[in-house]
Amino acid sequence: MQVRAAVLDAFAQPLVVQSVDLAPPRAGEVLVRIRACGVCHTDMYTASGVDPSGYCDCVLGHEGAGVVEAIGEGVTSLKVGDHVVCLFSPECGQCVNCKSGKTNICTAIRAQQNLGFLPDGTTRFSRSGKPLKHFMGTSTFAEATVMPEIALAKVNPSAPMEAICMLACGATTGIAAALYKAEVEEGSTVAIFGAGLVGLGAVLGAKLRGAERILVLDPSAARREAALQFGATEVLSGGDDGAQQVLDQTDGLGADYTFEATGLVSVMGQAVEAARLGWGLCTILGVAGRGETLNIIPRFLITGRKVQGGSFGGAKGRTHVPQLVDLYMDGKLDLDGLISHRLSLDEVNRGFELMHEQDGIRSVITFS
Ligand SMILES: NC(=O)c1ccc[n+]([C@@H]2O[C@H](COP(=O)([O-])OP(=O)(O)OC[C@H]3O[C@@H](n4cnc5c(N)ncnc54)[C@H](O)[C@@H]3O)[C@@H](O)[C@H]2O)c1
Ligand SMILES: [Zn+2]
Ligand SMILES: [Zn+2]
Repeated sequence: MQVRAAVLDAFAQPLVVQSVDLAPPRAGEVLVRIRACGVCHTDMYTASGVDPSGYCDCVLGHEGAGVVEAIGEGVTSLKVGDHVVCLFSPECGQCVNCKSGKTNICTAIRAQQNLGFLPDGTTRFSRSGKPLKHFMGTSTFAEATVMPEIALAKVNPSAPMEAICMLACGATTGIAAALYKAEVEEGSTVAIFGAGLVGLGAVLGAKLRGAERILVLDPSAARREAALQFGATEVLSGGDDGAQQVLDQTDGLGADYTFEATGLVSVMGQAVEAARLGWGLCTILGVAGRGETLNIIPRFLITGRKVQGGSFGGAKGRTHVPQLVDLYMDGKLDLDGLISHRLSLDEVNRGFELMHEQDGIRSVITFS
């Protein structure tokens, strides 16, 4: 079949929206008709060419949600018509990591996914007979895509796609970090560095867990305002003395839980320092530039602080994303407020511009 898709032809050039060929799903694969897709920093980072592991030509996009249109041989957990959220982080349930129950880092298809292929080492996308690579195993800047069954979370079909697509990446990363990775305790004090989609997700998760104080640091006044709307109890401007700002608000002790959601290693250091003496737990979510390192004064660790990180906030996609969709449907997660702009696929480059200008929180592409 032919589908319109946003193709990365060359780094640092606008994406080209064009018709490409999409082959039917093979064994263990599913054809998904995409209904909505968020525009995430990782798409822009790859398109810029700065990410050394990036590749082109490929169909970008990874924050998608849609409807199953066809299934390949042996697919048992999904059927035509099911509503799904696309996962860059699969959950096979069979690999050593999945079976351990200790991590969401499923190893089943990692190697091929990182190279831009489906698990069998080939692509379903092509152009003029030449293969076109998949991106993050998802490629959701397209009217339809083919993905592995183990990378699709089946969700409540009543949920609006434009809201739940954000659970494919940014929103879940923050929410899950607070809910499942850090397991924020009721009555605790939380400090969140950065109030983009990831940081605001952590605000939502901390609120859901019953945190008493949620301090949010962000130099952007608009982002601080957003944080207050989503449940922050106090906002601070952050900056070079971000850790001190948290200490000043917590009797010099620090917060029970800190979350870093900026991607800046200097801020990661602040988030470690702002974790409470004795038991503070710092969760790093931002993706730092390649080669950058995080320096931690060992005394912070000896005196009881702990540091962890979480890809996708530690969420196990097929298990947790449907639960988050249900929380949203129960009115417990305000996802609608996170959508700032609705775009068509043809406006995908505008989505990058808006992100670059820090205009709004999330641009969502909707497909008619
Ligand atoms: N762990 C994962 O799986 C995962 C998933 C998605 C995104 N990410 C990463 O998470 C990070 C945040 O993503 P986002 O979409 O929310 O980004 P974003 O750019 O929308 O938000 C970052 C925020 O940090 C703020 N900031 C800048 N300097 C600051 C400082 N000194 N102190 C406090 N805040 C400061 C900015 O004003 C901005 O509001 C990025 O690095 C992104 O790549 C990680
Ligand atoms: Zn993303
Ligand atoms: Zn697995």
